[in-house]
Amino acid sequence: MDQVREVAGHYRVDNIVVRVEEAMRLGGLDKTTINVDHLEHIDEFHAGGRNATRHVVDRLDLTRQSHVLDVGCGLGGPARFVATTQGCRVTGIDITASSVEAANTFNEWVGLAEYIQCVVTNGFDVPLDDHVCDAAMMLHVGMNVADKGALFREVFRVLKPQGRFVIYDVMTDATPDTQVKYPLPWASQQALDHVASASLYRSAMTDAGFIAVSEHVPPSSTRRVRQKIARPTPGPVVTDETQRPLPDATPSGTDKYLQELGLNLAMAGQLTTKVSNLNNALSIGALRLVHLVGNKP
Ligand SMILES: C[S@@+](CC[C@H](N)C(=O)[O-])C[C@H]1O[C@@H](n2cnc3c(N)ncnc32)[C@H](O)[C@@H]1O
Repeated sequence: MDQVREVAGHYRVDNIVVRVEEAMRLGGLDKTTINVDHLEHIDEFHAGGRNATRHVVDRLDLTRQSHVLDVGCGLGGPARFVATTQGCRVTGIDITASSVEAANTFNEWVGLAEYIQCVVTNGFDVPLDDHVCDAAMMLHVGMNVADKGALFREVFRVLKPQGRFVIYDVMTDATPDTQVKYPLPWASQQALDHVASASLYRSAMTDAGFIAVSEHVPPSSTRRVRQKIARPTPGPVVTDETQRPLPDATPSGTDKYLQELGLNLAMAGQLTTKVSNLNNALSIGALRLVHLVGNKP
């Protein structure tokens, strides 16, 4: 439980909605005009952003009748992409209350509250009955989860027979050593880091009951972590990017809005170092991006 609290503390950012409201104001947008695409600059918290989500969703085999579980939904970007493009229902779960609160606020703004419900809970304890979901996805969450078997058993429980589970995580084949530097986007220090090998994931999925577990390399276009951060402003050095003051409005319009948004608003500090440590580890092969797909019999 302490581990869950520490991970949630790592992701906690209290002022996300306020920051996005301010960016909307600067860009001439408001709660009635903002759409899912406007939010993609902060709410796709994984390597490859929206493009990577599209590749995960392509593997899910969804229809308008599907009910999808999004494990570790964060700010809800992948869930909103699914609801918008597939017209189906999504339940998002996440341990970080500030993210879930923002996700539900954004869902309301873009008119998706009827389709998506995000709930604060651990992936070990999904508040759904057995066999109710047609598919489940998990993007960049397993790196924070020590007991992957317990998580996968819970996903298996809520899936219907023939339900599909797609994982998109950062994994490693290297033995633990000093190649990986901290902080990383999911772990400020090693204690929070539970990156594992694809073979460990596959065994844990198979042990949980999944069959036909297959491993895929995500398209190259998703393999580097975008480092879009809000435009720097003159003034005192700001070490916590989430606290950086927004500039006064000058030219307005959607481009202006986009300049003000970046993953730093969703990530609690040290974005530049976290992203460059991850990109270095990916480029030397210490970490790699993997899709795993498994089916419930
Ligand atoms: C890197 S973010 C990814 C968010 C989202 N999946 C996305 O791709 O935009 C990882 C998320 O996993 C959540 N998380 C970590 N461990 C979890 C667990 N045991 N149960 C549920 N959520 C968890 C964190 O709170 C965080 O929001």
